[in-house]
Amino acid sequence: MTELNSLPAHYDDLKLSFEAVWGIVEAGVTNRHSPAHMPAVGTTDQTGTPQLRIMVLRAALRDARTLRFHTDSRSIKAEQLRQNAAAGVLIYDPAAKVQIRLSGKTNITQYGDVADAAWSTSTPFARRCYMAEAAPGTPLDRPSSGLPDWIQGKQPEEEQLSQFRANFAALLVKVETIEWLYLANAGHRRARWQWDAGQGSWTGSWLVP
Ligand SMILES: Cc1cc2nc3c(=O)[nH]c(=O)nc-3n(C[C@H](O)[C@H](O)[C@H](O)COP(=O)(O)O)c2cc1C
Repeated sequence: MTELNSLPAHYDDLKLSFEAVWGIVEAGVTNRHSPAHMPAVGTTDQTGTPQLRIMVLRAALRDARTLRFHTDSRSIKAEQLRQNAAAGVLIYDPAAKVQIRLSGKTNITQYGDVADAAWSTSTPFARRCYMAEAAPGTPLDRPSSGLPDWIQGKQPEEEQLSQFRANFAALLVKVETIEWLYLANAGHRRARWQWDAGQGSWTGSWLVP
């Protein structure tokens, strides 16, 4: 008989599985090579169709149940989230053999301390994309980056960037549900946690994978 691989401590432990979720998500913020660094973020469009795109995870605050992404305040996803604040975040970590699905309500934060700090700590190159003249997703009659000609291939100065500050927004996801799937030859493990607002705590249970 084939010997089964050794199993992690969280395998049959709901509490440790929950710890592992946040360990993977938090590592995604700082470790650019982690699959959690660029999750798929899902919204719903006006027709009810799910829309997914890759976004860079900028912050994960476990105690506040909050994930932070950065985006253009004029983007299609921002408009979708203003109509329907529900969002999903999907991570697959092949090394950990773990799929994590998070969902919750979002807040598109254009101004205030969080958005200001997020703006000022981003590199000028990262912020250059907010200098696009028309909103992201606007049809073009020729191929283009959408940026003004004078900034093509150049790093903008702080003063130049400041004129485009209104195009920047922090997208905050307040996590309400978490799903975990751990793949193992010995048998998969699946768990789900729901935020209980009344109790102010997470309620978790195992599920059939
Ligand atoms: C590796 C990678 C990282 C990306 N990071 C972001 C990001 O942090 N924020 C963002 O708004 N778009 C990011 N994008 C672009 C989005 O995937 C998407 O194409 C764009 O935001 C337009 O989406 P929307 O039309 O749904 O608003 C990234 C794309 C890739 C491929």
